[in-house]
Amino acid sequence: ARTAAVIPAAGRGVRLGPGAPKALRTLGGTPMLIHAVRAMADSRAVSLVVVVAPPEGAAEVRTLLDAHALPERTEFVVVPGGETRQESVKLGLDALPPGYDIVLVHDAARPLVPVDTVDAVVEAVRDGAPAVVPALPLADTVKQVEPAIAPGEPEPVVATPDRSLLRAVQTPQGFDRDTLVRAHETVTGDVTDDASMIERLGAAVVTVPGHEEAFKVTRPLDLVLAEAVLARRRL
Ligand code: CTP
Ligand code: MG
Repeated sequence: ARTAAVIPAAGRGVRLGPGAPKALRTLGGTPMLIHAVRAMADSRAVSLVVVVAPPEGAAEVRTLLDAHALPERTEFVVVPGGETRQESVKLGLDALPPGYDIVLVHDAARPLVPVDTVDAVVEAVRDGAPAVVPALPLADTVKQVEPAIAPGEPEPVVATPDRSLLRAVQTPQGFDRDTLVRAHETVTGDVTDDASMIERLGAAVVTVPGHEEAFKVTRPLDLVLAEAVLARRRL
């Protein structure tokens, strides 16, 4: 069973602040997207990477991929993305040729995921799980709140879920391709990850251990951490 990776990279990165689209911002001098592509292509299992580029940036992304040394055994395809992450992933899935039975979906915004995590996800899908997510326990206590009556007013806390049963999930998330395609064709409504669409289908989703370095670059402080992790790796 061949494995492809779809990398949604079409977001603007509003929370990171003004500048280039987030995936094109650099870490250690190299665009975040290239780090993410390399993280997928470094897995022996992955033979195709589909990059879902910012809608106006597909040509630029193609040029970037050609300009960086990437594993020769991997093929790279670039498609323009959509308005939402979900649409972007769907556009990436639409570009997959036949013959790839396993699909990883990996955020460009998680540039530093270690290859062992990627391999663990692929392995669990090969072992028969239709959907696999890397997951970590939470460090913070989590509260459920009610919306504030008005902006600036306090939010009433309504519950404290048992933290030992909560997980923060990362990417790459791994899927049986047919199940993921069916989820994208049938599930509607807002979702923040692909596995939740599989849950709505009623199919099984399982976890494998995530990794601290697979954190998502979302806010400016995350860039500081990412630069530090990269610098430590280069020692
Ligand atoms: N993404 C995408 N297409 C979109 C929106 C998001 O491909 N229309 C991708 C992002 O490029 C990112 C991943 O989905 O790799 C996770 O999204 P997020 O971290 O929220 O990135 P952005 O949407 O770019 O950031 P923000 O929400 O702060 O604008
Ligand atoms: Mg977003």
